[in-house]
Amino acid sequence: MSEYLIEKSKYIFSGELKVPGDKSISHRAVILSTFNKDMTKITNLLLSDDVKSTMYAVGSIGVMFAENNGKIFTRGTGIREYLESPETIDCGNSGTTARLLTGLLSGQNFKSVLDGDKSLRLRPMDRVKEPLEKIGANISTNNGNMPITINPSKINGGNIKITSPSAQVKSAVILAGLTGDSELNIELEIETRNHTEIMLNNFTENIKINGNKILITPDPKIINDTIDVPNDPSSAAFFIIGALLNVNSHLILSQVCINPSRVKFIDILKEMGGDISFENKGILSGEPVADIIVKSSSLKGININKNDIPKLIDEIPVIALAMSLAQGGSKIEGLNELRFKESDRITSIVSQLSILGANIKNIGDDIEISGVEEFKGGLCDSFNDHRIAMMIAIASTRCKNDVKISNYNCVDISYPNFFESFTKFKKD
Ligand code: S3P
Repeated sequence: MSEYLIEKSKYIFSGELKVPGDKSISHRAVILSTFNKDMTKITNLLLSDDVKSTMYAVGSIGVMFAENNGKIFTRGTGIREYLESPETIDCGNSGTTARLLTGLLSGQNFKSVLDGDKSLRLRPMDRVKEPLEKIGANISTNNGNMPITINPSKINGGNIKITSPSAQVKSAVILAGLTGDSELNIELEIETRNHTEIMLNNFTENIKINGNKILITPDPKIINDTIDVPNDPSSAAFFIIGALLNVNSHLILSQVCINPSRVKFIDILKEMGGDISFENKGILSGEPVADIIVKSSSLKGININKNDIPKLIDEIPVIALAMSLAQGGSKIEGLNELRFKESDRITSIVSQLSILGANIKNIGDDIEISGVEEFKGGLCDSFNDHRIAMMIAIASTRCKNDVKISNYNCVDISYPNFFESFTKFKKD
């Protein structure tokens, strides 16, 4: 078991930090580049364990990769010419790999089997099987879990409504639609991150977006040979909270993706009193980006409604941390989806922040918090969940005593150099 000791010291989050490329966008860059029989150049690709799982997965169906000067070059096969994988495709810890690949492979003329690690095997896969079967896929799971067997089938066009609050489910249906025999109209009931739509629009001619309706035309026609990945707001979130919670901090996070479906947490932190602003706004491969400027702030409690959760889903651990050190009470409602992440995040957030000294409790699918002045410290566990490990590290900056994190290596899932970035801000 790996353990990381964070000794009591002072932290000031000042200066400039470049967090790694966005995880969601990196998965999609790798997958969409497979449509291109010519070379695609991907810049700032996140080379984390999760994205490597996607690279491994598409590598096993015939896609080739090369690296030069920090850029990744891919040579795809085209969407109709993937090769049958000779073995089970291991998706590691990555839900995005498992669900997006299930969509992509469901309209192929060969069988595929996808599996994952212990944690991924616990995560629900029926949410992706059900909508895909409505458009013609033939998928079997192990009682709703991995391994998943995707049998050869033909994807039909037509109409489908996505009711799940999951961008992974929506993306799986979009990818399947690209392998289909006619146009697919997708109606979205709930707004979730729209990176698949943006990238498809930038890289191919095969999508039309009209409000909550998407029209997919099969057989991607490639119109671009480069995908630039912006920096990850979910990784930036840890340092944004670190800067807000520690006096004399003034941090600049360069060129972070500020897609509104990802930065709702910034609106929430601003409502709590956080001094956060955007500068140098631009567009990178269709995604809005900006430098994020954060200054130390005193925060007050707030209530978050369940309708906001899909746009905050990955930042709940750090929001709960901010609330635990804010003035007054806070409540986050409707967190059921957190039960199906890399760990049961309701349990992991509440148990680990409680160990450190937060006044936090779980009632049903809600979390209630009453802010405290300071944490005490203690022995924590990441539950092998990258976002929990990073939440604990940032929490340690406001602890009176040392903090030890067991199983800290899981940060490699989304932020391989997290502890290097973190220790830069240690002041004594
Ligand atoms: C992701 C979507 C979200 C998110 C995950 C990445 C994606 O999952 O939690 O980290 O890349 O589409 P759900 O779509 O299951 O909510």
